[in-house]
Amino acid sequence: MRTVFWEENTVKLIDQRKLPDAFEILTCRTVEELGEAIKTLAVRGAPALEAAGGYGVALSAFERDFRDVNDLKNHMKKRAEYLASTRPTAVNLFVGIDRVLNRAIKGDSVHEIREIALKEAQRIADQDVERNMRMGNIGAELFDDGDSVLTICNTGSLATVYWGTALGIIRSAVKKGVELRVFACETRPLNQGSRLTAWELVQDGIDVTLITDSMAGMVMQRGLVNKVIVGADRIVRDAVFNKIGTYTLSVLAKAHRIPFYVAAPKTTFDWDKKAMDVKIEERGREELIYCNVKCRKTLMAPQNVKVYNPAFDATPLENVDAIITEYGIIHPPYEKNVPKILGL
Ligand code: MRU
Repeated sequence: MRTVFWEENTVKLIDQRKLPDAFEILTCRTVEELGEAIKTLAVRGAPALEAAGGYGVALSAFERDFRDVNDLKNHMKKRAEYLASTRPTAVNLFVGIDRVLNRAIKGDSVHEIREIALKEAQRIADQDVERNMRMGNIGAELFDDGDSVLTICNTGSLATVYWGTALGIIRSAVKKGVELRVFACETRPLNQGSRLTAWELVQDGIDVTLITDSMAGMVMQRGLVNKVIVGADRIVRDAVFNKIGTYTLSVLAKAHRIPFYVAAPKTTFDWDKKAMDVKIEERGREELIYCNVKCRKTLMAPQNVKVYNPAFDATPLENVDAIITEYGIIHPPYEKNVPKILGL
């Protein structure tokens, strides 16, 4: 099933805040509701945000009746700005929003604009599924029988429209008959690794072992993993932005001479930018001090302690052995090979 989809003029999402306790579909009837879903990570993961952003702009065109075309276009632009303000790091969110808005505002009537917007949003979602399958087939060749693969966060079906990027590659490799096992970092503070990656892999019957983030070094030192694969929220000329803890894994992998791979679609590349241009999202203190963010009952830290909670970090490209995309595997030097393979 798709993580994000359109149904009866609403955007529907698998509510990832509830997993693995409950599998529930969240219906967003307004852009405001979708924005809240993005901020609270009901939908998350760069490619899923690309689709959600696109559907969000389409949704804005159905939110109410419009006096005329200009009224609709102004409304869509404002709603697009709001959607773009929800999370700053994953470039895919902006790609999805801009793509639908730029096409839709070329329409000449309310009916036409709605039609164009919805069609473009659907196209983004369909293309995501298709590119993930391609990336999966391409990346699977990097994996062999007996591999033990470390990953962080969730880069599976839930982080995309379907199938996944890094986890999609693992899925494709297993489908091709490669016998491998996965070590999943729990991914504090919101546990996308334990709640979502472990859940997806258990559902698929793929051998997965959960570890805390701080166990990664020991697991490498003991030879329990021989490859690392992660996703990306934004790839710039000198760094890969991904879930907090990714940089640590890259340094550890280098120290233990373990290949470190990044998997991402072309739309995650923001090749005109450098690491210093990218804003890293800082999230609320409640994510660190409470055992359960939602019920906010059990304290895990003093209520008034100072908290620093960046959601992403930047891994220097020199720590990355290869980037797997839907257009092929890109090896260093990236300065030369990224533009060559992706046409950027
Ligand atoms: O905060 P999140 O859960 O949205 O962070 C997601 C990640 O860091 C993923 O690794 C990244 O978006 C790639 S998903 C294919």
